[in-house]
Amino acid sequence: MQLRGSSLEEGKNPTVTVKINQPRVMPHRLLKLLLLFLVLCFIFSAVTISLIRHFGGQSIFVTNMSRTTFLSCIDEEPLNFDRWIRPPTNLLHSMNDSELLWRASFIPQRKEYPFKRVPKIAFMFLTKGPLPLAPIWERFFRGHDGLYSIYVHSLPSFKPQFPSSSVFYKRQIPSQVSEWGRMSICDAERRLLANALLDISNEWFILLSESCAPLSNFTVAYQYLMKSKYSFIGAFDDPGPHGRGRYKENMLPEVNISEWRKGSQWFEVNRKLAISIVEDNKFYPKFLEFCRPPCYVDEHYFPTMLTIRAPTMLANRSITWVDWSRGGPHPATFGRGDITEEFMKRVLEHQNCTYNGQQSSVCYLFGRKFAPSTLEPLLLLAPKYLGF
Ligand SMILES: *[C@@H]1O[C@H](CO)[C@@H](O)[C@H](O)[C@H]1NC(C)=O
Ligand SMILES: *[C@@H]1O[C@H](CO)[C@@H](O)[C@H](O)[C@H]1NC(C)=O
Ligand SMILES: *[C@@H]1O[C@H](CO)[C@@H](O)[C@H](O)[C@H]1NC(C)=O
Ligand SMILES: *[C@@H]1O[C@H](CO)[C@@H](O)[C@H](O)[C@H]1NC(C)=O
Ligand SMILES: *[C@@H]1O[C@H](CO)[C@@H](O)[C@H](O)[C@H]1NC(C)=O
Ligand SMILES: *[C@@H]1O[C@H](CO)[C@@H](O)[C@H](O)[C@H]1NC(C)=O
Repeated sequence: MQLRGSSLEEGKNPTVTVKINQPRVMPHRLLKLLLLFLVLCFIFSAVTISLIRHFGGQSIFVTNMSRTTFLSCIDEEPLNFDRWIRPPTNLLHSMNDSELLWRASFIPQRKEYPFKRVPKIAFMFLTKGPLPLAPIWERFFRGHDGLYSIYVHSLPSFKPQFPSSSVFYKRQIPSQVSEWGRMSICDAERRLLANALLDISNEWFILLSESCAPLSNFTVAYQYLMKSKYSFIGAFDDPGPHGRGRYKENMLPEVNISEWRKGSQWFEVNRKLAISIVEDNKFYPKFLEFCRPPCYVDEHYFPTMLTIRAPTMLANRSITWVDWSRGGPHPATFGRGDITEEFMKRVLEHQNCTYNGQQSSVCYLFGRKFAPSTLEPLLLLAPKYLGF
């Protein structure tokens, strides 16, 4: 009796045939083999059962053998969905900037998330070292676990001393020395954004410094950001020497003077714009080469780039309050004596701005620049004026 090879080979390889033994001999041999097999099975089971009895539930034989075979065969965890959606537990990775920015620029193409994604706010602290206002932030975050994440960029030489109960504990990212007014400060901001983007649940990205304090409670801030149609970054066209005066024609064709913008660097952007900042390698080289002091790159790079890339997504204002009323090239720094009930009223009342295309009396969620000495009066006045 002859059988043809499988249908795949049909016609292609007619010589492939399978011979089968004569039918009479088969049952007898097969029966013998089967019997032998059954006997072996019985012996094996008996030995196994007695071993399990002897060593109790946690038989070395079974657990350790299966474990070692498993490890030697696969050598690592099987691909697990959790791995894609769980934020990194340790922020101290070993990626350099090009690797990090590349990794952070990944965007899922499917609109729906196959899990319950609770959007979070990433609070990114760009600091030299200590966070003197940490206690007010601790209070601000209290009771809102799962709705925020924290990232701190400080001088690489700084060794933080936060207790394990602190929201800032182990939230330091691999940092590098950065200098105000130079591209290294934008690099630090991109590094913060990129680290925060690695957590797929982060939806808003807030840049803060050690002198920033909250001007609302967490609930108000969360709602304000999550419902906003626009991202917040100061971006205005200043015709003077400190605005358009810093523009260089060498930036053409990437940047036209009509698109040149100025603004303070304290931005609040959504995930889409955060990725836009991290992925940019079109404008970056131009600003690196042609915006050097007295062109302060941190005042122009992001506002200009985002104005070109996503003008309709910008509110063109920041929600970080700062006081320019004292004049001079720098905004006022407040000390202990400044933080009074009158001060709080002055800052919080009479706000008037556009929010989602409507007049709003809530314009600022954060403020600067608060000296370390303001901590005590801020903590004292927060319950009455800030709602936490
Ligand atoms: C199983 O193997 C591990 C090491 O791989 C060893 O530490 C452990 O003691 C073993 N278990 C038993 C029950 O012998
Ligand atoms: C990062 O590391 C890769 C591979 O070692 C290297 O090619 C790249 O130039 C590095 N980038 C930076 C910014 O150091
Ligand atoms: C810059 O843009 C304006 C319009 O916004 C255009 O009229 C002008 O020609 C552009 N300049 C250059 C050098 O391309
Ligand atoms: C922000 O400015 C851009 C142009 O610079 C403009 O297109 C956009 O409409 C402005 N956003 C708002 C909310 O007015
Ligand atoms: C806010 O400002 C707009 C225009 O700048 C004005 O029309 C409006 O009356 C002001 N609202 C309040 C409450 O002051
Ligand atoms: C947050 O502040 C708002 C406005 O000040 C207040 O109405 C609200 O009760 C506060 N929320 C909490 C949880 O304290």
